[in-house]
Amino acid sequence: MTQRIAIIGAGPSGMAALRAFESAKQKGTEIPELVCYEKQDDWGGIWNYTWRTGTDEHGEPVHGSMYRYLWSNGPKECLEFADYSFEEHFGRPIPSYPPRAVLHDYIKGRVEKSGVRKYMKFRTPVRNVTYNDKTQKFTVTVKDLKDDALSSSEFDWVICSSGHFSTPNVPEFPGLAQFPGRVLHAHDFRSADEFAGKDVLCIGSSYSSEDIGIQCHKYGAKSVTFSHRTRAMGFKWPDSLSEVPLLLKLDGKTAYFKDGTSKEVDAIVLCTGYLHHYPFLDDSLRLKSRNRLYPPSLYKGVFWWPNNKFIYLGAQDQYYTFNMFDAQAWYARDVILGRIKLPGFEEQAKDINAWIQREEAIADAFEAIDFQTEYVRDLLGPTDYPRLDVDMVARLFKEWEHHKMEDILTYRDRSYPSTITGNLAPVHHTPWMQALDDSMQAFLNQPDLSAPKVA
Ligand SMILES: Cc1cc2nc3c(=O)[nH]c(=O)nc-3n(C[C@H](O)[C@H](O)[C@H](O)COP(=O)(O)OP(=O)(O)OC[C@H]3O[C@@H](n4cnc5c(N)ncnc54)[C@H](O)[C@@H]3O)c2cc1C
Ligand SMILES: NC(=O)c1ccc[n+]([C@@H]2O[C@H](COP(=O)([O-])OP(=O)(O)OC[C@H]3O[C@@H](n4cnc5c(N)ncnc54)[C@H](OP(=O)(O)O)[C@@H]3O)[C@@H](O)[C@H]2O)c1
Repeated sequence: MTQRIAIIGAGPSGMAALRAFESAKQKGTEIPELVCYEKQDDWGGIWNYTWRTGTDEHGEPVHGSMYRYLWSNGPKECLEFADYSFEEHFGRPIPSYPPRAVLHDYIKGRVEKSGVRKYMKFRTPVRNVTYNDKTQKFTVTVKDLKDDALSSSEFDWVICSSGHFSTPNVPEFPGLAQFPGRVLHAHDFRSADEFAGKDVLCIGSSYSSEDIGIQCHKYGAKSVTFSHRTRAMGFKWPDSLSEVPLLLKLDGKTAYFKDGTSKEVDAIVLCTGYLHHYPFLDDSLRLKSRNRLYPPSLYKGVFWWPNNKFIYLGAQDQYYTFNMFDAQAWYARDVILGRIKLPGFEEQAKDINAWIQREEAIADAFEAIDFQTEYVRDLLGPTDYPRLDVDMVARLFKEWEHHKMEDILTYRDRSYPSTITGNLAPVHHTPWMQALDDSMQAFLNQPDLSAPKVA
C-alpha cells in the first residue's frame, strides 16, 4: 500500500521536502502520498510577510517574525539552492544581499516550477499528532480554518517543519510593567519608522538585536543602546549606537545596567530569541531544546530518536538555511524511500552525542561555520542532491563575518560569487544605508546587471 507522509508547515524547510520528493518522481521513482498542512494562506514560512501581530484573522498565533525593510543578513550565495540558481530564477545575476520580498520570490519560484502546490492544504493548522505503537501509524488532527472543522487522518511518516523562530522568549525585568513607552518583542517588530527620533533600547546581542538596531538607526532613531547578557557584539558602531551590559531595572524611562551606567529610553525591543514550541505534538514526539546547532535527540539532526518515522527539518540554529534544509530533505526522503538504511538506536545515540560534544567545544563563529559545514557535507554525501561546494560556502560565510566586523553598516554592499554558476554578483545600485525602498521592483531596477565571470 502507498505510504502516506504528512508535512507540517510550508516554509523553506517544508518546501524543501516537497521539492525533494518531486525531484525523485521526475526521475521515475514512485513516491509516497504527500499532504502538506500550512496554517497560513500561502507558502514561504516567515518569508511570507504579514503586518499582523498577536493573533491572525482566525485567532491563530501569528507565525511571521519578519519586518518591513528586512534584507538578507547573509550573502544569498550561501543559501542558494544547488538545483535552482538565482540566475535561473531572475534570468540574470542579482546583488548579494536581497530584501525579503526577493528571497520570498526565489523560494516560491522553485516550488511553483516543480508543480507541488497540489500537495498543499493551506489555512490548515495541525492541532495534534500522536503515534500508535501497535499500528505504527501517526494520527494527525488538523483544523480547516475556512470551514471551521476538525478532521484526523493516519500517516506512516510525519515531517515537522513548523519553524522555531516564531514563539518569542520574553524575559521579565523590574520596572518593565511601569515603563511609560512602547515595549515589544522582536517577533512583533514590523517597521522601524515608528522609532524615528526615539531613543531605543534593544535587549539581546544576536542577529535580531543587531539587525533591528541598525534598521532603527537607518530609519532615523535618535540613539540605539544594545544590552547584552553574555557578550557584546563588538562591531564598530556609529556614534549614536552603543553597547552596554545587561539591563538590571527600569525606573520610569531610565534604564539601569549591570556596569552602573544608565540611559533614558523611549522604547524597548526585546530581541531575546525564540522558543522551540510544538504545542500540537504528543510529549513523546516533542523536541525540547534551546536554539543550538545540534539539538538533542535528533539523529543526523533530523530523525527523532527513538522514533525515526518522525522527522524534524530546520530545527537547528542556522548559518546555512535553504540549502541545508534541502540537504536534510533529500536525506530524509532517501530514508523514507528505503535508499538509505539507518543504523540501530544505540549507534544513533552515539553519533548524536559525538556531534553534541563537538558542538559544545565550539569557541567562535568560524568554528560554528565549520561545524555546520561538516554537518551539511555529511548529509549530502549519500544523496543525489546536485553538487554543492560547501567549502566555498564556508569561505563566503567567513568573508561575510570579516566584512561585518569591518563595517556593520556597509557589509551588505559587498558582492560574492555564486557557488553554483561561478558568476560574481553585481554591486547593488544603491548603498544599503541609502536604500530605503525594500521592494523587489526597486531592488531589481538595476541599470547594469552584467557580471564578469569569475576566472
Ligand atoms: C526575523 C528573521 C529573519 C531571518 N532572516 C534570514 C535571512 O536573512 N536569511 C536566512 O537565510 N535566514 C533567515 N532567517 C532564518 C529562517 O529561520 C529561515 O530562513 C527559514 O525561514 C526557516 O524555514 P522553516 O521552514 O524551517 O521555518 P518557517 O519559515 O518558520 O516556516 C514554518 C512554516 O510552518 C507553518 N506552521 C507552523 N506551525 C504550524 C502548524 N501547527 N500547522 C501548520 N503549519 C504550521 C508556518 O505557518 C510556516 O509557514 C530569519 C529568521 C528570522 C526570525
Ligand atoms: N535577515 C536578518 O537580518 C535577520 C534579522 C533578525 C533575525 N534573523 C535570524 O533570526 C534568527 C533568530 O535570531 P535572534 O537574534 O532572534 O535569536 P538568537 O540568535 O537565538 O539570540 C537570542 C539572543 O537573546 C538573548 N537573550 C535570551 N534570553 C535573554 C535574557 N533573559 N536576557 C537578556 N538576553 C537574553 C541571547 O543572549 P545570550 O547570548 O546571553 O544567550 C541572545 O543574544 C537567526 O537565525 C537570525 O539569523 C535574521
